[in-house]
Amino acid sequence: VHLRLALLGCGNVGRAFVALAAEKEGELRDHYGLTLGFTGGLTRSAGGWLASTSITAGELAASGWPVARQAVPAVDCRAAELFEGEAVAFATACPADVLLELTSLEPLSGEPATSHVRTALAAGRHVVTANKGPIAHAYRELRALADRRGVALRFESTVMDGAPIFNLAEFSLPATRVVGFRGVLNSTSNYVLAAMATGQSLEAAVAGAQALGIAEANPAYDLEGWDAAVKATVLANVLMDADLRPADVSRTNLGADAMRAAQASLHTGRALKQVVEARRSPEGTVEAAVRLQTLPAADRLAQLAGMETALTLHTDTMGDLTLVEGEGGPGQTAFGLLADTVSIVRQLTAGGPFGER
Ligand SMILES: NC(=O)c1ccc[n+]([C@@H]2O[C@H](COP(=O)([O-])OP(=O)(O)OC[C@H]3O[C@@H](n4cnc5c(N)ncnc54)[C@H](OP(=O)(O)O)[C@@H]3O)[C@@H](O)[C@H]2O)c1
Repeated sequence: VHLRLALLGCGNVGRAFVALAAEKEGELRDHYGLTLGFTGGLTRSAGGWLASTSITAGELAASGWPVARQAVPAVDCRAAELFEGEAVAFATACPADVLLELTSLEPLSGEPATSHVRTALAAGRHVVTANKGPIAHAYRELRALADRRGVALRFESTVMDGAPIFNLAEFSLPATRVVGFRGVLNSTSNYVLAAMATGQSLEAAVAGAQALGIAEANPAYDLEGWDAAVKATVLANVLMDADLRPADVSRTNLGADAMRAAQASLHTGRALKQVVEARRSPEGTVEAAVRLQTLPAADRLAQLAGMETALTLHTDTMGDLTLVEGEGGPGQTAFGLLADTVSIVRQLTAGGPFGER
């Protein structure tokens, strides 16, 4: 199978994906009969390009696009043309089988990424995204659209980078109900709380997280639980068939002042964590919450160090299943995109259908 890919957004994650696709070219060909080629790309500042013949990952990586800010990748052997429209028009026009939606997250509205995804699905393209916004704000609508169009909508990288949460649930937990979950999903708050436990000030710990490139430009987004609330929404909507929005997730005892106060009164042997929890109420609705919690040392979440994150799924077949991710980042996020791309090929070669769980 040859899949033509288009990159809508190509920052840290997009560049890591191109590098990984180049590195894994041999394995993909030999084990899955899969070759990948790029037929379009667009970023806000570098502009867009389209190519009628695929450019390989190695060629694209070597071209310098989009870092060099040239509008079209400088690939000698293929004609890539300038695309002058904006992102929604690109999602329609790109001559690709799969749109990789890798633009920045807008947590409160999910736009414009939701429009990009909707447009690509409506045009009959598979979509793979690392952007939580569309899945948190419009999962039911987008899933129904993908099913109607007979195309895939995959988003493994939206929670815990490429750790296999959604692929695990879809492919390895047949006939299983996820009845709840509990985890630490924001690596910045975990890093900051771990550093504060060693005596660092909150300001120094936040500066450390920013120097490592893991914190948002506005760290309040991490510390006040919005990142975790968006992830909880994605998990609840996909795994528990909920219809939440990030604002429906209760956020209590969060933020800089609460963290300082909780740290000051913490007893030896206990750990502070920003914990995400969801469960189905007796009435059948799904309730999700993010809060700062003081945990006993024996709690698995209390043992997470530095940037580690973890998620426990409460299931009716396997009891509790826990995934722990070490240090994540663009490389692991790129792996999730690759895993989703391989899942599309597996479904294509098995004759579909797409989108059924
Ligand atoms: N970094 C991670 O480890 C990680 C992990 C999990 C999920 N994610 C998610 O993955 C996505 C990409 O993350 P990233 O770290 O690669 O972000 P990034 O480095 O900021 O890159 C974002 C890219 O999107 C482009 N872009 C933004 N808005 C656009 C628009 N309206 N139209 C066209 N292009 C647009 C940017 O273009 P310009 O640079 O030209 O402005 C840039 O190429 C985000 O949604 C993020 O939440 C990231």
